[in-house]
This record gives sequence, structure tokens and C-alpha cells, in this order.
Amino acid sequence: MPKDEPLAAAAPDAIAVDRLSVVYPNGTVGLRPTSLAFAPGQFVVLLGPSGAGKSTLLRSLNGLVAATQGDIQVAGIGSIAARGALRRHRQRCAMVFQQHQLIGRLSTLQNVLTGRLAYHSTLRSLWPLPLADKRLALDCLDRVGLLDCALKRVDELSGGQQQRVGIARAIAQQPRILLADEPVASLDPATSVRVLGLIHSICKADGITAIISLHQVHLARQFADRVIGIGAGRVVFDGPPSQIDTAVLTAIYGSLESAQRDDWSVAPTPMTVPDAAVEQEALSTTLTNRITPRPT
Ligand SMILES: Nc1ncnc2c1ncn2[C@@H]1O[C@H](COP(=O)(O)OP(=O)(O)OP(=O)(O)O)[C@@H](O)[C@H]1O
Ligand SMILES: [Mg+2]
Repeated sequence: MPKDEPLAAAAPDAIAVDRLSVVYPNGTVGLRPTSLAFAPGQFVVLLGPSGAGKSTLLRSLNGLVAATQGDIQVAGIGSIAARGALRRHRQRCAMVFQQHQLIGRLSTLQNVLTGRLAYHSTLRSLWPLPLADKRLALDCLDRVGLLDCALKRVDELSGGQQQRVGIARAIAQQPRILLADEPVASLDPATSVRVLGLIHSICKADGITAIISLHQVHLARQFADRVIGIGAGRVVFDGPPSQIDTAVLTAIYGSLESAQRDDWSVAPTPMTVPDAAVEQEALSTTLTNRITPRPT
């Protein structure tokens, strides 16, 4: 390398939170002041008991929950509190939900196409989306192994298939960051491994930074580059999965018995912020007209 050539700058964090805290309007503390930085391409799993603050952290990362204090910085965008920044951040920050959040009466392909809406003005998206978007959506369906289901109504698919549609919709957004809140909580153990493995391989292939909450410690061990343990709204562990031992599990879950209970047998908790059904309906009514071709 020539002497006078500058050293390559270290890659900036994909996303970083600085003293971020969330207190809900009813006074409940969702997240105590927390500072974390996520490197590009890192596959991060959030572990913690019910009510620990995993969803609060995830949802604050894309502005679905407002921060009470602190700042969120995103590579190439800066603080998401700046004017227009949240919209740009959400364009490249995809979310996968526990209950899929798909629009049941639409086809699989139409659901995946909703991942492209952030790239179009409201007016433009009233018309059928461009061919390039449809090609991309089909490619995403192919990547999750559901190309042959493209024209099926999404509510005719199994739970595991629906979650794969949710993943296809997320990657159709061509995200830099993927947030997933208990994406395998509604699936049986074998399907959980397959679906999380799919998310992992796609994120690694595309260099997507992934932040995923889970209740299964063994899945965190299998897939995570880094595990963040959350307890009572604060980070109680941050390290590689190889460091998860009895002491760490006790720190995260309060006791080893609670940790074991959490792994497999804890029933998935319903989404609380806002209620999943309300969110689904809002999504449905806003998006249906935009992606259904208008009658001629
Ligand atoms: N919309 C809300 N209004 C008031 N309090 C809330 C709201 N959403 C969450 N909380 C509270 O904030 C705290 C953190 O909840 P959060 O949903 O982030 O936990 P979690 O770790 O995702 O739990 P789970 O594993 O059950 O999904 C809990 O005390 C919860 O009751
Ligand atoms: Mg949660």
C-alpha cells in the first residue's frame, strides 16, 4: 500500500443506541437507560424473561415505540430523531413479527410486494407496482422456497410457510437491518430451527444486521454471533453464546429453573404494543387498495 494512502476507516455501527430509555405513558418502565452498538452483518439474539424489555428495545429501534430519552444513530442516516430520518431508516429496516402480520385475503405475492411500498410515494403505490418490484418479490419468494405458492391466498398456508412469507416480505425491502420479535414463537421445534436457519443464512448472505428476540436459549447458542441478555429493562449480559453458562442464565432469568422453563415450554406472549389485531387491521386497510390492481 502506498505510504500516503489513508488507512481504511473502521466500518461504522449499523445502528447504535445511546442511553436510550422508554417509559410508557402509564408510567411502566420498558427500558432503563441502555447503550448498545450493533456492527454491520452481526446476528444478535436478545434473550430475557417475559416483560424484560426485549420488544420495547426492538420496537424503539424502528420508532414503533417512542424513546423517552436517549438517541438512536443509524449508519448513513444519523439520528433518527432528525427530520425525515425515521422514514429513511424504516425504508431499510425490516421487521418480522411473531404473528406474521400478513394480510390473509391477499395472495402470497401481494403480501411480499407490501415490502416494496416504502420505496414509492403514496400516490404511486395506488397503481400496480412496477415489474421490477414483482420480479424482486418473486425472487424473494424463491429464496424462502415458496415460489410455487405465489398466487395462493396467504391464509391458505401453514404457520411455518406464513412466517417464510413474512421473511420474504422483509427481504423484499432490501434491508440493511432486520428486526425480528420472537419470529419462531408460534412454530413447532423443528420448524423453528428451519425458519431461524433461513433468516440466519439470508442475513449472512446479504450482510444484513439482524437483531432477534427469542425465548429459546439453545437457538441463541446455535445461531447468534452475540447474545444480549435483558432483565427488568436493563442489559445484564452481552457476549458470545459460548459464554452462556449457569451463572449467565441465572443473571438473565433470575434462576436456572426459570431459564429452563423459558426454553420451549413458555407459551408465546401476545404482542402488547399496540395490539397485534389492531396493527394487522390497520395494515390491511391501508395496504389492500395500494397493491390490488384497480378494476378497469
Ligand atoms: N404498551 C405498553 N404500555 C405499558 N406498558 C407496557 C407496554 N408494552 C410493554 N409494557 C411493559 O413494559 C415492560 C417490558 O415489556 P416488553 O413487552 O418489552 O417485554 P418482553 O421482554 O418483550 O416480554 P415478552 O417476552 O413477554 O414478549 C413490561 O413491564 C410490560 O408490561
Ligand atoms: Mg416481547
